[in-house]
Amino acid sequence: MKKILVIHGPNLNLLGQREKDIYGKTTLAEINAQLEKFASQHRVELKIIQSNHEGEIVDIIGQAKKDAMDAILINPAAYTHTSIAIRDAILAVSLPTVEVHLSNIYAREDFRHTSLIAPVSFGQISGFGTESYVLGLQALINVLTKKIEP
Ligand code: DQA
Repeated sequence: MKKILVIHGPNLNLLGQREKDIYGKTTLAEINAQLEKFASQHRVELKIIQSNHEGEIVDIIGQAKKDAMDAILINPAAYTHTSIAIRDAILAVSLPTVEVHLSNIYAREDFRHTSLIAPVSFGQISGFGTESYVLGLQALINVLTKKIEP
C-alpha cells in the first residue's frame, strides 16, 4: 500500500476559529477525517502531522524515506513564503510533493504571492478551501499510479 505523508504547517491547528472569512469553519480534525476517508477509498495510507515549528517539519521531511513514505502532501502555511529549509528538505528527499492552500494565495497580500515550495513541488493547488487538500491527495495518488507523469 502506498504511504503519503501529510504535513500541516503553522497555525493550521487553529482552523475553525482562525480568520473564518478566509479559511472557513472546518477544523483541522474534520479535514483530516475527510483525507482519511478519501485515502481508504483509494487504498493509500496516510501519516498526518501538524507542526508550528520549521525545524520539526524539516526533520519529518528528512525522515520520510526512512519512514517508507512514497509522497508528500503539504500545506506549509506561512513557511510557504519564507522557508528555504523546508524547500531544501523536499529537494533532499526527492519524493513527489504537492503543495496545497485553502485560500488563493495569489489573490491576497503581495508577500503571499511567492512560494519557495512550489518550484520544488510536482504542483500546487490553491484557493479551493478544504477541497484543496482532497484535490491535492487525488493528484498525488494519480502521480503514484502513473496516471499523471511530469
Ligand atoms: C495558507 C496561506 C498562507 O499564506 C498562510 O500563511 C496560511 C494558510 C492557506 O492554506 O491558505 O497560514 O497556507
